Amino acid sequence: MNDAHNEPKTSFISLRAFVAVVVITGLLAAAMAFGVTGLLVTIFQRQQEARNPFMRVVEVTDDTVDPAVWGMNFPMQYDQYVRTVDMERTRFGGSEAIPHTPDSDDPRSMTARSKIEMNPRLKRMWAGYAFSIDYREARGHAYMLEDQTLTKRQQVQQYGNCVNCHASMYATYKKLGEGDIQAGFEKVNPMKYQDVRPLVEHPIACIDCHDPETMQLRITRPAFREGIRVAKAAEGIEDYDVDTMATRQEMRSFVCAQCHVEYYFAPDESKRLTFPWHTGRRGDQILNYYDEMGFKDWVHADTGAPMLKAQHPEFELWSEGTHARAGVACADCHMPYMRKGALKISDHHVRSPLLNINNACQTCHRVPDEELFARVERIQERTVEMQDTALDALMDFIDSIVAVRKEGIAAEKMERALYCQRAATFLIDFVEAENSSGFHASQESARLLFKAMDYMRLGHVALDESVAIAQGPAQPEDEDNSESAADNNI
Ligand code: HEC
Ligand code: HEC
Ligand code: HEC
Ligand code: HEC
Ligand code: HEC
Repeated sequence: MNDAHNEPKTSFISLRAFVAVVVITGLLAAAMAFGVTGLLVTIFQRQQEARNPFMRVVEVTDDTVDPAVWGMNFPMQYDQYVRTVDMERTRFGGSEAIPHTPDSDDPRSMTARSKIEMNPRLKRMWAGYAFSIDYREARGHAYMLEDQTLTKRQQVQQYGNCVNCHASMYATYKKLGEGDIQAGFEKVNPMKYQDVRPLVEHPIACIDCHDPETMQLRITRPAFREGIRVAKAAEGIEDYDVDTMATRQEMRSFVCAQCHVEYYFAPDESKRLTFPWHTGRRGDQILNYYDEMGFKDWVHADTGAPMLKAQHPEFELWSEGTHARAGVACADCHMPYMRKGALKISDHHVRSPLLNINNACQTCHRVPDEELFARVERIQERTVEMQDTALDALMDFIDSIVAVRKEGIAAEKMERALYCQRAATFLIDFVEAENSSGFHASQESARLLFKAMDYMRLGHVALDESVAIAQGPAQPEDEDNSESAADNNI
């Protein structure tokens, strides 16, 4: 990927430092003449900061977890980082604070909006699974650990390595593995959530993204290291080592891709956190992979279908979009450069870029605010409309399965219909659970929803082949669903 949009940052600082020296020489004379020492002090401070952005006030080691300690050395990044507590909504994203009366089960006074209450079709889509009990809008990083600890999905036994993406894990993995992160990861996988939870304290912190010596970005999650290796192998690149082979621009997405991805826990006793990228990272490729290994997350309460749940595949969908193709990283939009005095820093207030389009978008797109909002909304509105259509079709399809089952149907036909429910649900969910409402990759999101509609069409055919055959061209009974059905693993 190209590194072009990083250039201004370094050259800006060094140019500024140079200009400062020239200006100061001139100003010294002026200061003596007019006594403007206040201005001079500011310039000296700024020059100091610009030259020495990693000036250390306190020692930070590879075991310092508390972000407030790192924050003493990097107060500007820290000030932005703590602002992830802010809740502000956009038309389709952001988050809205919903008051909650604290009780003994849940001491939160604010939560995020309930997605299953806003959209009850989701509840039926996930009938029989914990997501139909509680599923809320995502909010800022500051909340990740408490929201996971307190979700009503905890009524069902949860996995130890749920914390991989909801806590500062680096030091915990290191301690459990006696210095070896990988070994620590292996230890956490088979544990129960309630046994791991006391071992972590903070949400994601500086140590999870940065090397304390150099402040370079680094990968701290073994699941991603493995995942990106199998993904690269599927693309024909063998023995990919993210620690030595990733470019700086790739790292500006990879740090986020440690968590904003689809995942599963291995169905054996290892319960290993795994990213399903062995046959590619597109929604339908991941579906094929799950089919091949015979994996299911749960059994649908209304129909008995073996189901899959998709979760936040931001990295996967972004990978298929225009911006990724153009080398634009997650951090370019979600952590854009911002001006702080004489410096440009990365905005550590990670949030919806629509709350910050000046820095997030208009550095590249020099069009007025209204025009930019309109472009994004057009993409999001259309995606959400397609998603709604697909969800309505899914509700009808589930009704049909339930009705036909009552009437009686050959087991083999029912099995095919249930597969179609599984596949359609996973593909709809892949777009629904992705948090940009289509923005990250609009064409790819539409393709997946279109494919979901096709699975439901095939499913109706399986339930009532006589109708479909009567309407379509006359075909011999055993060839009617040969090609497309074979492609679709039915
Ligand atoms: C070109 C800019 C751009 C890039 C690159 C980008 N995003 Fe986004 N992202 C957006 C926009 C725009 C939205 C929609 C926000 C909204 O609706 O308020 C969004 C939404 C999101 C959301 C939901 C935010 C919310 O407030 O609801 C998450 C999470 C997210 N992106 C993560 C990522 C990750 C992870 C990557 C990299 C793999 C990435 N994004 C790459 C622009 C970008
Ligand atoms: C691979 C990383 C990863 C793992 C593993 C993971 N999560 Fe998350 N989780 C995320 C991300 C990213 C978000 C924010 C985006 C979203 O909500 O879609 C999130 C959001 C959440 C939320 C807030 C939104 C909601 O769904 O109500 C809860 C609660 C949650 N996760 C619970 C869990 C539980 C329980 C587990 C273990 C079964 C788990 N997470 C495992 C990455 C992960
Ligand atoms: C350790 C795992 C982890 C990493 C790494 C991570 N995130 Fe997140 N992110 C989460 C979780 C979990 C949430 C949801 C927290 C909640 O709802 O309580 C979240 C929430 C968000 C949101 C807010 C969504 C909203 O609706 O307000 C955005 C935007 C986001 N992440 C983008 C990013 C970007 C960009 C990166 C990389 C620079 C990144 N994240 C790195 C786990 C992670
Ligand atoms: C989710 C990952 C993530 C977390 C957590 C995080 N950072 Fe960063 N940080 C980044 C990214 C991405 C950059 C841009 C690096 C680049 O372009 O090479 C960055 C850059 C920096 C820089 C270099 C100067 C700049 O602003 O670009 C400093 C210093 C820094 N971060 C300090 C901190 C501190 C202090 C914390 C904790 C309070 C922190 N970071 C937490 C992702 C993170
Ligand atoms: C680092 C530069 C960069 C940033 C930052 C950036 N973009 Fe882009 N954007 C591009 C490039 C390059 C293209 C592709 C244009 C082309 O190839 O013709 C593009 C294409 C687009 C498109 C049309 C393609 C599509 O997906 O439909 C939209 C809309 C868009 N950007 C909106 C945004 C918004 C909104 C933001 C901020 C959240 C943003 N961009 C941030 C560089 C950027």
